[in-house]
Amino acid sequence: MSKTNAVESATDKNELNEFEQHYFNSYDHYGIHEEMLQDTVRTLSYRNAIIQNKDLFKDKIVLDVGCGTGILSMFAAKNGAKHVIGVDMSSIIEMAKKIVDINGLSDRITLLRGKLEDVELPYKKVDIIISEWMGYFLLYESMLDTVLFARDKYLVEGGLIFPDKCSLHVAGLEDAQYKDEKVNYWQDVYGFDYSPFMPLVMREPLVDTVDNAAVNTTKSKLIEFDLNTVTVADLAFESKFTLTAKRKDFINGLISWFDIQFPAPEGVKPVTFSTGSHAPYTHWKQTVFYLNDDLEADSGDILEGKLTCTPNKLHSRDLDIKISYDFKAIGPDAAERSTQNTNNYLMH
Ligand SMILES: C[S@@+](CC[C@H](N)C(=O)[O-])C[C@H]1O[C@@H](n2cnc3c(N)ncnc32)[C@H](O)[C@@H]1O
Repeated sequence: MSKTNAVESATDKNELNEFEQHYFNSYDHYGIHEEMLQDTVRTLSYRNAIIQNKDLFKDKIVLDVGCGTGILSMFAAKNGAKHVIGVDMSSIIEMAKKIVDINGLSDRITLLRGKLEDVELPYKKVDIIISEWMGYFLLYESMLDTVLFARDKYLVEGGLIFPDKCSLHVAGLEDAQYKDEKVNYWQDVYGFDYSPFMPLVMREPLVDTVDNAAVNTTKSKLIEFDLNTVTVADLAFESKFTLTAKRKDFINGLISWFDIQFPAPEGVKPVTFSTGSHAPYTHWKQTVFYLNDDLEADSGDILEGKLTCTPNKLHSRDLDIKISYDFKAIGPDAAERSTQNTNNYLMH
């Protein structure tokens, strides 16, 4: 059954548009895989979830969507899967082949190169899909589309998806100093006015680690997805949020993060992890949206908003994000501090 000796691509890379080529090229280099493997919150969550569900993996056919170096395929094979099919478009699969071989698993793992959408699997149906598809702000990269394609084409009725639940969250953030350094830097660059850069900087969400002490409002869940039922159309969403200021402080931006949950046997606590600033570091860090206004908040003030997220029309792996907000201050100076605005962002 092993196909690990020939990793010919089912997809001709030259046929892909330049953005798709760039996307898959970014996974060719070992550096990005090193970063993912060394993210122990990420990698051990997958391993723990597979071990916790060992009984369910026993003798099952497993599909690893975007197998990279093959780590998830090997976790599944080591924990009872009858056979694992790992699919990846990037050349990293050549290394996965070597790794699977030297770890003695090539009779249990078949590696296929190509876009999942183009490859022909050696099985008509699989029992379990595993995939690490999450991007910054959960949906950047749009790899979830591929997992849903795999689900609809290959997963048996009642099959499992690891992970199968995810949610996106926001809260308010004080970040005046860094915002000032990033944005106002362009006002005077060696004595020259570079201010045309300022709107570009504001438009780009910032991926960075945030000190949890700087989060100064309650949090709000924007949306959750159940991978067993969600459709690609659902991934373009509009969601309302309400945040309450916890102290007298400026709200300079919104911090966002996502949480992940794996299936668990009946009555057992599922494996979960969070990419929030309150949780241990992950390579996804957090995503910050600076607001045009620096909101002068006091404890109890309300920040109501609406976030719209859609894949960019030109480059579908990029995200267009729009945040409209209505800051409702309370107290004697409420009228001066209250404000409304709409900010547009492009995550690319
Ligand atoms: C985030 S990495 C995860 C790698 C590996 N599963 C791990 O956990 O370390 C995602 C991988 O999916 C691959 N990928 C993304 N979209 C794909 C598609 N449509 N078909 C095949 N591979 C894809 C990328 O090339 C990349 O190696």
